[in-house]
Amino acid sequence: MAALDAGGVRTWLDTSESELNVVSRETWAVRTAGDRADEPTPLVDASTPLAQAAEHSVLIRRGFQSGSPLPRPERTRVFVVANQKGGVGKTTSTVNLAAALAHLGQRVLVIDLDPQGNASTALAIEHRRGVPSTYDLLVDGRPLTEVIQPCPDVPGLDVVPSTIDLAGAEIELVSVVARESRLSKAIVAHPRVGGPEAGEDRYDYVLIDCPPSLGLLTLNALVAGQEMLIPIQAEYYALEGLGQLIETVEMVRKHLNPALWVSTILVTMYDARTRLAAGVADEVRSHFGDQVLKTTIPRSVRVSEAPSYAQTVMTYDPGSPGALSYLEAAREIVTKEGRK
Ligand SMILES: Nc1ncnc2c1ncn2[C@@H]1O[C@H](COP(=O)(O)OP(=O)(O)O)[C@@H](O)[C@H]1O
Ligand SMILES: [Mg+2]
Repeated sequence: MAALDAGGVRTWLDTSESELNVVSRETWAVRTAGDRADEPTPLVDASTPLAQAAEHSVLIRRGFQSGSPLPRPERTRVFVVANQKGGVGKTTSTVNLAAALAHLGQRVLVIDLDPQGNASTALAIEHRRGVPSTYDLLVDGRPLTEVIQPCPDVPGLDVVPSTIDLAGAEIELVSVVARESRLSKAIVAHPRVGGPEAGEDRYDYVLIDCPPSLGLLTLNALVAGQEMLIPIQAEYYALEGLGQLIETVEMVRKHLNPALWVSTILVTMYDARTRLAAGVADEVRSHFGDQVLKTTIPRSVRVSEAPSYAQTVMTYDPGSPGALSYLEAAREIVTKEGRK
């Protein structure tokens, strides 16, 4: 293992450049139009406002039918929500998918791993300095059971908040034993995480909201998770930096966590009025194929204003296109289980 430097995760791992090049070439092999022809038509990826309105009414009908809970997975599924770019919708997607999953009858735990604590804010969780948090978990080795709080507005949803102390953890962890697997150990040790042996009350989904960097905090998440969920903003430059992220995932898989895979890509802030958004979504699909959810999340003021009321859009405006899209995305995640 090399020493810490500004380059982030890469320096923690003994991977030669040539290995990396092989990985990135394979990962980025562009698929042909023929490959794409048999992909299913996206459900919410409507290219005109009229088509989007039609999709919306379908979603509303489905949303209203959503009272019946979906089957739970056999084991806890641990998702890492990461993208080293800031502002792409990691936190928004984490909290809204978590609320949507809980709405679909799943037991959910959100772990806020970003010192900014935005996920904690959106879920109305106390996260001032001194509140037991991810900092205590990672740096002091406090058990997960002691840092969890229930989300007041969403039954079935628990949260580990982050406080500003976490900003120092990136440095403090450097001298800690097994610094990259602290989160993994904490999650595995929780009695409600695992398969049938963990009982009826087990968590079905753990969602980890990562900070916008590839440092030790994100590395801890990548070592702890089995599945990765990458939100991609439907904007110019959306794919920039993704190569580095995928290389990091490959390195972690090779050296630290063979179970990790990119199971889910979610296109966010999709504006159906622009050709640019449709182009970006097409490009994402051509790179990642069926890892990309058919549902895209529309750009919506309701989604962005919900956190200022300490709410998710799922509770703030459940009938809005943003809420229904997150509900549909959550439904896809539940039903996609096990595919690889
Ligand atoms: N679908 C959306 N429509 C409108 N605004 C959004 C949407 N998703 C996210 N935002 C806004 O974009 C900003 C960045 O989102 P956020 O989830 O905090 O990104 P990240 O966690 O990746 O930094 C926030 O102000 C958020 O409210
Ligand atoms: Mg965030």
